[in-house]
Order: sequence, then structure tokens, then C-alpha cells
Amino acid sequence: MGVILALAMQKGGVGKTTTTLSLGSVLAERGRRVLLIDLDPQANLTQGLGIDPSELEYSVYEVLLNPDRGAKFAMVETDAGLDLIPASLALAGAELELAGKVGRELLLRKALRDERDIYDYILIDPPPSLGIFSLNALAVSDAVLVPLQLHAYALKAMPQLEETISLVREIHPRLAIGGIVLTLADRRTNLSQQIEQQIRGQYGDLVFETVIPMNVKLAEAPTAGTPISRYAPNSAGAVAYSALATELEVRYG
Ligand SMILES: Nc1ncnc2c1ncn2[C@@H]1O[C@H](COP(=O)(O)OP(=O)(O)OP(=O)(O)O)[C@@H](O)[C@H]1O
Ligand SMILES: [Mg+2]
Repeated sequence: MGVILALAMQKGGVGKTTTTLSLGSVLAERGRRVLLIDLDPQANLTQGLGIDPSELEYSVYEVLLNPDRGAKFAMVETDAGLDLIPASLALAGAELELAGKVGRELLLRKALRDERDIYDYILIDPPPSLGIFSLNALAVSDAVLVPLQLHAYALKAMPQLEETISLVREIHPRLAIGGIVLTLADRRTNLSQQIEQQIRGQYGDLVFETVIPMNVKLAEAPTAGTPISRYAPNSAGAVAYSALATELEVRYG
């Protein structure tokens, strides 16, 4: 039985997609069966894996519209050794199309009914807003991974997310916070060290020991369509995500 994890944080640009992509590829390299799901109309995850969303026959859009078909028909195998349910531009219109549908938060859960037995890890990358896509991601997940950008207002972002999680617990009581990942860190500054301590003081063991540093290679890799573990395997970013994957395996492996 695999685990389904959604990256969650309503604030944009905190490293959700980078974490999904980098963790997923490290786990796949270690022989784990990994499925990534791009639920963001921006399709950053899809593009980061070298796939052009405009050339897809199917995407997660068709999966959400036809959950009875399952999800396999929309999957693509990637060079990174993992499977992807990609996003396409059509997804942008799905929000409205699904608005009136009964059980619209549970479409992904329905579509993924067989995948939990096939994969060790299913990682879902939702957009930075609380809409139908994020709700679908949370409703099918066992736990959320929370990327928290290490800056002065980091802790301000948590209450909103915790509120979202308690909201989703009405339809999915077992949804847990799986862990907090400190991202985009510049640990050389005193401020960032103070904030890190504050977050660890408040959330304790929920916070992964690994901190993801600010690393330009992590920003470059998606443009090359290659995960960081291959693009720059010795970079600080690759080393950090590898360590994070090891911690994740202790929790869920
Ligand atoms: N540790 C890092 N070091 C340097 N750049 C990073 C790092 N993590 C992410 N980035 C870059 O910062 C930007 C935002 O990261 P990312 O796309 O992962 O965030 P996101 O939370 O998915 O954003 P969105 O909310 O828009 O989906 C991207 O350009 C990414 O390449
Ligand atoms: Mg993203």
C-alpha cells in the first residue's frame, strides 16, 4: 500500500512544484514506484519533466471530468523513471465546468482508486489557491507536505493552511500534516536562523531536519526539463532533496 501526499500551501512560489519534482525523481532513482500528479493549470511540474502541455492527448483535466475511467489513460512515462498525470491548458476551464457537479471534491479520489496499490509514492502538486483542484488533492491524500519559505513572515502562512486542513477533515477525517519542509533558505543570515528556531519550537518533529537552501540550480533545472538529481547531482539543492527523501522514507517507506 503506497502513500498519497499532497504538497500544500496557499501562498504561491514557496517550492511546492520544485519539491514534488525533486523528491519524486530521487525516490524513483532509488527504485520506488512513483506517480506525480500535476493539478496546476500553470503546468509547471509537467514542463519541469520536459513535457510540452500543448502536445498532450490527455491530461488530468480528462481524469477529473471522467473519474469512472480511472487515471491510467492519462498517464505518461517520463525520462525520470516515474509516471506523471500531466496538466494541460484545458485545466484552467475545468474549475467552472466542475462547479456544479455533485461530489466535485472527490473526483480525483475516485479516479485513483487502483493506483494506491501500484505505486509506493503518489505526490500531488496543486495550484497556490484553495479551489476545486486543491480540495481534490487534499481529499485523496493521506497527508500534506507543507513547504514553508524561510523568511520573516513564514509563520503567518500556517494558520490559513491549518484552517483549510480542518475544513477538508469534514470530508476526510484522517488527513494529517505529514511534515513541514523549510525551503528557499539562506541560512547565513541571523534572521533566517531565528525564524528556523521559532518554527521548530512551534511545530517540533513535524519539521523535517533537512532544510532546502536557495540554490540557483534548482531554478535552472525545470528549464532544461530535467530533475535536479540529474541536472546537477552534486549541487546543494540535489543533496538537500536527497536527504529529504531519506527522511520521508523513514516516515512513510
Ligand atoms: N530552493 C530553491 N532555490 C532557488 N530557486 C528555487 C528554489 N525552490 C524553488 N525555486 C524557484 O522558485 C520559483 C518558485 O518555486 P516553485 O515553482 O517550486 O513554487 P510553487 O510553490 O510551486 O509556486 P506556485 O505557487 O506558483 O505553484 C521557481 O522559479 C523555482 O524554480
Ligand atoms: Mg507550483
